[in-house]
Amino acid sequence: MPTVLITGGHGGIGLECSKYLASHYRINLLLAGRNLERVELAARELMETYGINVNTLQLDTSSLVSVRSAAERCRAMLDDGTIDHLQAILCNAGARIEAHSQTADGYEETFATNHLGHFLLLELLIDRLAENGRVVFTASGTHDPETMDGKLVGAAVEPDALALANDGKEGRKPTSAGKRYSTSKLCNILTAYELARRLRRSGSAIVSIAFDPGSTAGSGFLRGMPRPVRWLSKTAFFGWLQRRLGITMGSLEFSGSSLAKLAVDPVFADAFGKYFQSNDGRLIEARSSKTSYDEGRAFKLWHGSKQLVHLQPGEEPALLSIESQGVL
Ligand SMILES: NC(=O)c1ccc[n+]([C@@H]2O[C@H](COP(=O)([O-])OP(=O)(O)OC[C@H]3O[C@@H](n4cnc5c(N)ncnc54)[C@H](OP(=O)(O)O)[C@@H]3O)[C@@H](O)[C@H]2O)c1
Repeated sequence: MPTVLITGGHGGIGLECSKYLASHYRINLLLAGRNLERVELAARELMETYGINVNTLQLDTSSLVSVRSAAERCRAMLDDGTIDHLQAILCNAGARIEAHSQTADGYEETFATNHLGHFLLLELLIDRLAENGRVVFTASGTHDPETMDGKLVGAAVEPDALALANDGKEGRKPTSAGKRYSTSKLCNILTAYELARRLRRSGSAIVSIAFDPGSTAGSGFLRGMPRPVRWLSKTAFFGWLQRRLGITMGSLEFSGSSLAKLAVDPVFADAFGKYFQSNDGRLIEARSSKTSYDEGRAFKLWHGSKQLVHLQPGEEPALLSIESQGVL
């Protein structure tokens, strides 16, 4: 039976995606999250409700040690048959982190949580993905400064891995929470496209997709915001206002089911390096920001990310290594 690994699959959009995968595709799940108690609770409920197999992984995407040990555990599950077939990896966990902070690895937390942890997870697991498998990144329309989503949150800055990891260090003024978030989502999209190019070059049929769920009320996403903002976000007035402003509008159920479809539905089997948005009840292919298509920036981000996660020589699978692909 195919299994989908989803980070943050126990809450918000991720949980709706998990439910849809279970109910509509009978897919087994591997839920990965930092709080194992919460993850296991969701796993039990999904198993009881849908009769599928759900395994769990302790994974804090902001910690390189945690990502490495989760990847090792996942590989062991595949080796001992706990999971027999990894069909997709959904890089869905993410947060807008209000306070400027650093991880135990010494990196800015939003960048580490939303981009770097997923980057390392993929490096360590992509060679165990099914030949026709998929990787989907839950990105965000806020990555594009030309859109109203991007304008309201704050324009993404240069996606330079080393600069982003060291944001606010040595007396430099930290980037605002909104900009740190939109930039981390730009990194997700640049990585999705660079991954698609590398997979294509190595002859792999694995599909890499970027997804914007749209502004989605009711998830835990705004938990760091002041109470009045959280309250307002759930009102019909706020929905009306966002529509008037031209913001991409998701909903928990629709955005979750869209992510599930992108992960496994045959309709998206050829969606190599594409970007999709769920907007007002429609799942549509769209153009992401101009910067997100810049191959030079994507290459540089990949290279810098590799340095930051301390990938050992020879550790990058041949599927992703440009050296093996004869590019260098
Ligand atoms: N809601 C929106 O309006 C919106 C719009 C565009 C894009 N998105 C993106 O959609 C994705 C899902 O967000 P959501 O709206 O469903 O919010 P959510 O309910 O807060 O879900 C986020 C998930 O990510 C997990 N997570 C956060 N930090 C983590 C870490 N360091 N390690 C492991 N897991 C971590 C959370 O786990 P915990 O339970 O441990 O916190 C949670 O399961 C995110 O990538 C977000 O950026 C959301």
